[in-house]
Amino acid sequence: MNDLTELLEVAVRAAHVAGRLHLDHKDRAFEVRSKSAPGDLVTEVDSLAEAAIREVIAGAYPHHAVLGEEGGRSGDAEEEWIVDPLDGTVNYAHGFPVSCVSIGFQRAGERLVGAVFDPNRNELFTATRGGGAFLNGRAARVSGRGALAEPALLATGFPYNVSEDARNLELLRRALSRGLPVRRPGAAALDLCYVACGRLDGYWEFGLKPWDSAAGSVIVEEAGGRVTDLAGEATPYAEMIVASNGHLHEELMNMLR
Ligand code: IPD
Ligand code: CA
Ligand code: CA
Repeated sequence: MNDLTELLEVAVRAAHVAGRLHLDHKDRAFEVRSKSAPGDLVTEVDSLAEAAIREVIAGAYPHHAVLGEEGGRSGDAEEEWIVDPLDGTVNYAHGFPVSCVSIGFQRAGERLVGAVFDPNRNELFTATRGGGAFLNGRAARVSGRGALAEPALLATGFPYNVSEDARNLELLRRALSRGLPVRRPGAAALDLCYVACGRLDGYWEFGLKPWDSAAGSVIVEEAGGRVTDLAGEATPYAEMIVASNGHLHEELMNMLR
């Protein structure tokens, strides 16, 4: 078994443990509090899930570093796990079933493994660098749509400080005024995975954090798509990212520039 396969197995195990916690707590009362803005919620499930993920990772790779949304960074090894224990917290807190666990792994900054698990639909998206992308074990591929006008189905998201940073409202207006369908599902890691499996043709967002995009970006790339900044540089860690099936990437970037 190669190294990446073993790493992916650990990521999947951790994602399943966390997903189980999401489901176990979803109909129970749990503590909800606001973080930076009224819409920026965190539940006790976010912390419980992150602790469970950290335990699985530490059991398998005690010397690896972990960057988690709730617990911050621990360790300084060049092997680093990047964890969003519950992506789509606002949805989750309202019982709107679009949320997931996102776990990425990188070595010396090179993104190598991604696992995103949506327990609401029991959908597991996975990828290893060079090994392809999969949805529940079956090969995942981006869509073949080549032009926005076909029309493409697009998605975006908004940072919690959208009231101070309204840049994306203008971009949304641009897309909608061209008659393009645009969705705002509310879980960035799933938005990326939906590009990877062809449910979306393109997606963009400002202000994502590494834990939102580390895993999903590997999955998009391994499914044949692209994740770049607005200049076309391959990265999921830019101030604004654009993800697509690759075919309409230039056209999408041009619309957003
Ligand atoms: C959020 C979701 C949302 C995106 C926000 C993220 P969280 O993550 O991914 O779709 O628009 O920018 O912060 O807080 O639910 O983990
Ligand atoms: Ca997130
Ligand atoms: Ca989160």
